[in-house]
Amino acid sequence: MTTRDATEVFSEWALRNRDEGMESGHANSVNEMLNIAIPMLATPFSAIDVGCGNGWVCRKLQSNKNCSKAVGIDGSIEMITKAKQKSTGEFHLAKLPGWNPSQKFDLIHSMEFLYYLQDPLDMLKIFFNEWLDDQGVLIAGVDHYLENTASHDWPESLNVHMTTLSEEQWRQGMIDAGFTDVETRRVGLKSGFVGTLAIFGRKS
Ligand SMILES: C[S@@+](CC[C@H](N)C(=O)[O-])C[C@H]1O[C@@H](n2cnc3c(N)ncnc32)[C@H](O)[C@@H]1O
Repeated sequence: MTTRDATEVFSEWALRNRDEGMESGHANSVNEMLNIAIPMLATPFSAIDVGCGNGWVCRKLQSNKNCSKAVGIDGSIEMITKAKQKSTGEFHLAKLPGWNPSQKFDLIHSMEFLYYLQDPLDMLKIFFNEWLDDQGVLIAGVDHYLENTASHDWPESLNVHMTTLSEEQWRQGMIDAGFTDVETRRVGLKSGFVGTLAIFGRKS
């Protein structure tokens, strides 16, 4: 059976308000990720949230007094419709790879997006070369990764492609893309969950 497009699946989730469950379920990990990334930036900083869902991380960033602009991008029409209903921020409907923003950003953030791509490590290179400003920081969180064995059946249960990489493959992928100060950390730890793998690095 052919797999479904992740953006179609997430449009269905948005129509059933399952975006709200993702928002609350991902909040602890994202808060920790932003607490790592934002202190690494000069101020003011611009930001883009990739695979932004209903735009909740953009709204969080907009409320940060040092954030000059927060843009969201997602390939799901229903997620972007919701994002635009919930705030006046800038949101783009686009499937990646194959779309580039018209400006570069100081912070690229993404939560639970990258592994839906066929080649997420190539996307890291595109982020580094085409999306990120000098001295900018990329931070990405993934819950589907090799060491999180509880996530291994997700591609089958959702019937969606997921690229399963190890912590070391993500780390090396960041280095190969050109990032410096590359680190991986487990965030959002709780009982029964090995944590979101947060991957981050700088363009210097
Ligand atoms: C698991 S959801 C996470 C949403 C949001 N980051 C959050 O934490 O609530 C993954 C999001 O990535 C988007 N997505 C998946 N593949 C994509 C692609 N190739 N291009 C653009 N967006 C994509 C989906 O539409 C979906 O909104």
